Amino acid sequence: MFENVSVAPPDAILGLTEAFRADTNSDKVNLVAGVYKDNTGRTPVFAAVKEAERRLLDDETSKSYLPIDGLAEYGSLVQRLLFGDHAIIGEGRAVTIQAPGGTGALRVAGDLLKAVSGSPKIWWSNPTWPNHPQIFDAVGLPSGVYPYFDSATSSLDFDGMMSALRTVGTGEIVLLHGRCHNPSGVDPNPEQWEEIADVIAERGAVPLLDFAYQGFGTGIEEDAVALHALVKKVPELMICSSFSKNFGLYKERVGALTVVTESQASAKAVLSQIKRVVRANYSNPPSHGAAVVTGVLNDPDLRRLWLNELSGMRERIQDVRRRLALGLDARDVRLSPNGNDFITAQNGMFSFSRLNKDQVQALRERFSVYIVASGRMNVAGLTSANIERVCDAIAAVTGS
Ligand code: LMR
Repeated sequence: MFENVSVAPPDAILGLTEAFRADTNSDKVNLVAGVYKDNTGRTPVFAAVKEAERRLLDDETSKSYLPIDGLAEYGSLVQRLLFGDHAIIGEGRAVTIQAPGGTGALRVAGDLLKAVSGSPKIWWSNPTWPNHPQIFDAVGLPSGVYPYFDSATSSLDFDGMMSALRTVGTGEIVLLHGRCHNPSGVDPNPEQWEEIADVIAERGAVPLLDFAYQGFGTGIEEDAVALHALVKKVPELMICSSFSKNFGLYKERVGALTVVTESQASAKAVLSQIKRVVRANYSNPPSHGAAVVTGVLNDPDLRRLWLNELSGMRERIQDVRRRLALGLDARDVRLSPNGNDFITAQNGMFSFSRLNKDQVQALRERFSVYIVASGRMNVAGLTSANIERVCDAIAAVTGS
């Protein structure tokens, strides 16, 4: 069985993290995976999370299984984070299941589509998170790509995106990044989201929103701008949430899949199908992360503390973006024909640096500075201790 198995290529993101770990250079810098670091280079546990965990340790009385769809209370809280007080909740048109991370939610969404809809075509942006193609190819959905990023201007190729969306067929799926597009950091503005929602509604397509960075753009509520535009215009949609980043619960694998349908009866039927999919995959979800999220969201003081901590992270990221742009300006590095301002205009953890594959490789081999081959850099990994070194390295590999 296994004698002739060939070696698979390393993962575009997590494979590089392994290479980083093996690098013996004590000055190495990891700007690969979307993981927040503070100015000392640590990925902190939120104080609100720690407190919720303390309470859990005292109060938990059993390790028995969760239901297939996870903690019911967690599902309701996730819906509040997504929809606020929108009528969808009262109408019972949305179902939410707890999933092992955003990736788990995406995989369940793909399996659900295959089970109920005979493998519809799914469209994703060019570029997108490299795991999107892997997940939906593994499910076996046919795929298409819509233009998204204009590399000449480092901004959204809105016209290209809209032209492609106008060709999407009825019942096909359009995968969108809810906020803080990964890898580009470039998001449509609110008016553009309205137009995107209009064209998706006209085509009779179904949006699948990957919402892994809620709170890393402008704020938890503000970041739901795409979701709110879609909810107004489209009767059915799917949302994959992740709490890896906005609760710092990366290794606890906690996320959610929410499906909005046209009626409560359809929502119930969809939930029953999701449960079949989950039961045949991982049976039921791990508890800890969802119990922590529930504990934080349910307690007004912990919720406030959590939101403050999240704002602090957002502000730090904006600050390092400014410092990176200034550091490059000071070295006469111009990463785009228009200079380096695009770095501060992008949202979330990532900057699409415009460094090419050779420059990325030189950064790694000559300076042990690790970024993704596409040129995506996790600016949340920059600190006072490493930012000058990173600017120097970029100046060296760009020949500035
Ligand atoms: C990333 O894009 O770096 C993160 O979402 C982590 C991952 O799983 O790839």
